Amino acid sequence: MAEERLRLKDKVIIITGGAQGIGRAYALGMADEGAKLVVADINMDKAEATAKEIRAKGREALALKTDVSSPESTQEMAKKAVDRFARIDVLVNNAAILEKIRITRLPFYELDLNEWDRVMAANLKGTLLCCRAVFPQMKAQGRAITIIVVLLLGGVTLVCTGFSHNNL
Ligand SMILES: NC(=O)c1ccc[n+]([C@@H]2O[C@H](COP(=O)([O-])OP(=O)(O)OC[C@H]3O[C@@H](n4cnc5c(N)ncnc54)[C@H](O)[C@@H]3O)[C@@H](O)[C@H]2O)c1
Repeated sequence: MAEERLRLKDKVIIITGGAQGIGRAYALGMADEGAKLVVADINMDKAEATAKEIRAKGREALALKTDVSSPESTQEMAKKAVDRFARIDVLVNNAAILEKIRITRLPFYELDLNEWDRVMAANLKGTLLCCRAVFPQMKAQGRAITIIVVLLLGGVTLVCTGFSHNNL
């Protein structure tokens, strides 16, 4: 496609959980539309592999080892994204613990509370922490932003796309 027709030309996009699965597919698709990607994932080997695929398309990509359930790690994610690309246009909150968890398959009275806490920390608190981490940069840019949240909690899926904030 001609460069001027790319819908995400030079947009800097952080995608959490971009190392594999749906996040990887988002990252590759956004790269096809001209975006610069930050692939933030707890699995650095796979994050780097996704970043490599993006670079092979001729787009820029930065892989970052990030734990979305950690305030320090998410702050570092935002800082390193800005250090590299000087801005953040979009945050895709996609990271989640899905594999090998049993909480979606058990009645509530049999749930392992440690597992519950781990899932909530990544899938719910992680979204809050990532939004908080990027917000100062997005506010400083003074431009419309989009935050996409894709979240699965105990069998309930919330997909909130395209929140445009013009009055930060
Ligand atoms: N797979 C489905 O059927 C489905 C359906 C609806 C919604 N979703 C949502 O789509 C998103 C992606 O799902 P998927 O199927 O690609 O999952 P996946 O398990 O294939 O990928 C999740 C990614 O998140 C990363 N991750 C996990 N914990 C993390 C943490 N603490 N910090 C940083 N990264 C972390 C993992 O390393 C992995 O790369 C999730 O938010 C999920 O809730 C998935």
